Amino acid sequence: MPFRISVPASSANLGPGFDSMGLALGLYIHLDVEDSDQPAFFAHGSTESEENHFIWNISEQVAKRYGVTLPPCKVQETSEIPLARGLGSSASAIVAGIELANQLGNLQLTDDQKLAFGTEIEGHPDNIAPALFGGLTISTMLEDDIPSAQLNDIELDLIAYIPKVELKTEVARDCLPDTYERNYAARASAMSNLIVAALYSKDYVLFGKMLENDLFHEPFRKELISNFDVIREKAKAFGAFGTALSGAGSTMLSFVPKGNGSTVKEKMVTQLEGYQVKLLEIDTKGV
Ligand code: HSE
Repeated sequence: MPFRISVPASSANLGPGFDSMGLALGLYIHLDVEDSDQPAFFAHGSTESEENHFIWNISEQVAKRYGVTLPPCKVQETSEIPLARGLGSSASAIVAGIELANQLGNLQLTDDQKLAFGTEIEGHPDNIAPALFGGLTISTMLEDDIPSAQLNDIELDLIAYIPKVELKTEVARDCLPDTYERNYAARASAMSNLIVAALYSKDYVLFGKMLENDLFHEPFRKELISNFDVIREKAKAFGAFGTALSGAGSTMLSFVPKGNGSTVKEKMVTQLEGYQVKLLEIDTKGV
């Protein structure tokens, strides 16, 4: 003590990588931790201690699982991640809580243990894995394991269009079908395979094409997203390879040739009112 924990935001799915692909972004939750006689948790912007805060509750759950009592400390949380906009704020908070318990309780948790615990709480690993490891991660849930792989040299600029409107993930998941007919699922899975192949081979034209051909979730969610087609079409006209819903929305994210991000961003700003249009970095470190 004292120490700081920083956890990146993330954008899940990247089009057809539903519940599996996620990209860590350069927006962070920070926890500044110091010694204290009494436990105290000050959430972003609050002057009142909230010992029932979500992040602190996660730390307590981890401590209970591993049979330790966490020492009292004072935590100050600050966050750059907008809530309920598809930028993985809840997964980043979960990872922050896990890491806080790990460091305070000297638990020496492995990456696999952190990923398993985070995924158990979140229900899917596509935001938890990039928040933990950084970069672009592909992961899935097996019965007793969460295998993941990373892809770290993506040569693209990112532009996020963050609207004022929040969208709860539960709402955006409720509008998805429970099952997909076999031929449809096979095509959806093919898009997902191809987008990974395109990223590996740095064929960003193919990547952008697959990004915009998701069949798993965007066709069902786009009605919930204002300006879905407008943003996609304008970004394409200004030179983006492709644009997808970030996670479950409401943010959309464009992937642009490296070095062109600022120019495309400035053009998009003139087209969109009521949005925060942000050039984002890819985080490559994770927590
Ligand atoms: N894969 C998740 C979804 C990400 O699209 O519902 C949001 O948490």
